[in-house]
Amino acid sequence: MSENVTPRVTVAEAGRHVGETVEIAGWLYNLRRSGKICFPQVRDGTGIMQCVAVKSALPETLFELLKDLTQESSLIVRGKIRAEARAHGGFELDVEDAQILQRVPESEPYPISLKEHGIDFLMDHRHLWLRSRRQHAALRVRHEVIRAIRDYFDSHGFVLVDTPIFTPAACEGTTTLFEVDYFEDEKVYLTQSGQLYNEATAAAFGKVYCFGPTFRAEKSKTRRHLTEFWMVEPEMAYADLEDVKRVGEELVVFVIGRVLENRKEDLKDLERDVSKLEAVKAPFHRMSYEEALAKLQAKGSEIQWGGDFGNTDETLLTEDMDRPVMIDRYPGEIKGFYFQPDPARPELALGVDFIAPEGYGEIIGGGQRIHDLNLLLKRLDEHHLLREAFNWYIDLRKYGSVPHAGFGMGVERFVAWMCGLEHVRETIAFPRMLYRTRP
Ligand code: 4AD
Ligand code: MG
Repeated sequence: MSENVTPRVTVAEAGRHVGETVEIAGWLYNLRRSGKICFPQVRDGTGIMQCVAVKSALPETLFELLKDLTQESSLIVRGKIRAEARAHGGFELDVEDAQILQRVPESEPYPISLKEHGIDFLMDHRHLWLRSRRQHAALRVRHEVIRAIRDYFDSHGFVLVDTPIFTPAACEGTTTLFEVDYFEDEKVYLTQSGQLYNEATAAAFGKVYCFGPTFRAEKSKTRRHLTEFWMVEPEMAYADLEDVKRVGEELVVFVIGRVLENRKEDLKDLERDVSKLEAVKAPFHRMSYEEALAKLQAKGSEIQWGGDFGNTDETLLTEDMDRPVMIDRYPGEIKGFYFQPDPARPELALGVDFIAPEGYGEIIGGGQRIHDLNLLLKRLDEHHLLREAFNWYIDLRKYGSVPHAGFGMGVERFVAWMCGLEHVRETIAFPRMLYRTRP
């Protein structure tokens, strides 16, 4: 004889079980009570279910247990699902039975109440804060963004070839390297970008991408900087600056489409104005560095030719825009050693930055790489980069060198933009910043 076991369902799928008795396993999110009835709200990671426990319908001890249950105690509730238009998700569960797995003691209550807390307190309790509604929503959007990025590249002929995290050389300047003691006397660095290795794998596979954590020892305490962030980096052989713009634009539009399609509820929890995201369509705005400079100067900025755009400049540049702007042809001297110069104006680099609207800043940086051997050697010397560390990279210019190009998109900046979040620290589960390495 088979025993009659109550099926376990998630809050997200409860709507398909109206009229059935099911069980939901979760944690107590909130509790309201009024005399002979109490309403435990149970969250299970997929949603929040309002439960209704009626004193007269339950054993007395069980009702007492539920009515005094403490926030974030773990429990399994059993009961019948009922459609209820006024409830958050559209359904309620009438409690028939419940099992408390761990009751959070009153002596040491859950530290994060549903009231306001200061940001430092919340960051110190990040391991618990992740359970809160907005944090939860932001990380679900992040998951969707990552999934969409992968889907985009996987369905456009790119091969995922991941690149190492321990690296012997700098990609994005020597001032932001994290040095690590390797074995014996060897020093290595945490990768700033997989790009250099992508250039090798692009020559092997044509179109590739890598997707992983990258590190910058940047002593900047801004709302856009992490010391550890995730970057997706495509690289294409036989490609130029225009290909970077085309693919970057297509990628951004595709990912936003997926977020709007699949994460509307989360965007609502985040109080995101989705009309701002719906407005983001191709073609994006395009301008050169020099046009951007002129625009900034006209707006009263004191920036001069050769200066790099800061956060304020990026915000100024896009304040009248409803979609990103692609700014290309920066002075070579403020860009990485690897940029191909513009043949018409060799002092300019064939690089492009995508600046998101609403003050979210640079989300993509990339461009065309040097493919000429002698020019690369010259640049390495100019940047005081030791050839020994780059021998393999130099090889790529000796064996079937071709024009090639690619870019990097920062996941946290992109997610902050999608969610309308003030700071990138809320777009990753455990942010690493200048003054934060815990929890
Ligand atoms: O512009 P970046 O430095 O470009 C590169 O690393 C290239 N090698 C990529 C390539 O061409 N394959 O960084 C690319 C993106 C930026 O546009 C930004 O979105 C993000 O990475 N980013 C950061 N995000 C968070 N915190 C930081 N400290 C970041 N630095 C860059
Ligand atoms: Mg950049």
